[in-house]
Amino acid sequence: MKKYTEIQDISNLSETIKEAILLKMTPFEFQDLGKHKTLMMLFFNSSLRTRLSTEKAAKNLGMNVMVLNVNDAWNLEFEDGTIMNTNTSEHIKEAAQVISQYADIIAVRAFPSLTDKEKDKSEFVMNSFIKYATVPIVNMESATGHPLQALTDAITVSELAEKARPKVVLSWAPHPKALPQAVANSFVEVMQQMDVDLTITHPKGYDLNPEITKNTPINYNQEKAFKNADFVYAKNWSSYSDYGKVIHHDKNWMITKEKLGDAKFMHCLPVRRNVVVEDSVLDGDSSVVIQQANNRTYAAQVVLKQILEKL
Ligand code: CP
Repeated sequence: MKKYTEIQDISNLSETIKEAILLKMTPFEFQDLGKHKTLMMLFFNSSLRTRLSTEKAAKNLGMNVMVLNVNDAWNLEFEDGTIMNTNTSEHIKEAAQVISQYADIIAVRAFPSLTDKEKDKSEFVMNSFIKYATVPIVNMESATGHPLQALTDAITVSELAEKARPKVVLSWAPHPKALPQAVANSFVEVMQQMDVDLTITHPKGYDLNPEITKNTPINYNQEKAFKNADFVYAKNWSSYSDYGKVIHHDKNWMITKEKLGDAKFMHCLPVRRNVVVEDSVLDGDSSVVIQQANNRTYAAQVVLKQILEKL
């Protein structure tokens, strides 16, 4: 693997999932692979799971890890030809090349603005790092995707499926704030590559980018969508058509134990209790969110392993 900024960078998803599950059983088997190699993690936004699990994964492979909260550094300029006489102090051209001298792999988290659709869609932060860095880039959640989370979700569904071709439902759920579409986008993309019966359910006005959903069925009736579901993956996202807006606060879309039935409950976390999902789901046997979060380590580890093997 040369980089991991999108699901499509995985050449063989089913083999990668199997490799991740093996790494989970023997996490230190490749502890010399990353010796004298450094992972630099750059955070433009907050994180708990991504930061800790990716660091743990790198250390399991024997790597050194450095973390920079980008907001503590110089304000970066991403536009070409800008006269930098206002708020930005350092251009990504220099920054990415300099960081590349300190690291063998650079991982970046940079959320969307949710105000400028075209700029967000261009993935200008992630693509600037790809363009100017001289080492592989890993996406720790960007404007439009969260491929490490999606690989985690694929591993989790593979491990926990109790039948061939399980029914998987991605459900929009309420949230007080405008959130990115990234997790939902990457979840759809990865599930489209798996042998699952995938349905998306959300209120009207919350359709994801049709270039991503393609022909995946969309059901605007949550109750009907949940019928016979084996996995329900809840996530809030803001409107894509009315870009970045919260257009629906209907708490009837909250995931309840009654609605869930026999399905397993998934969420990338963090989750707002009794807004997105009621306590009884998270505290009950149907919730697999803790196992899911554990798999973040092995998703990151298999990605770092495959990149280290190509260095
Ligand atoms: N799921 C996820 O990416 O969690 P963090 O935002 O805490 O990293």
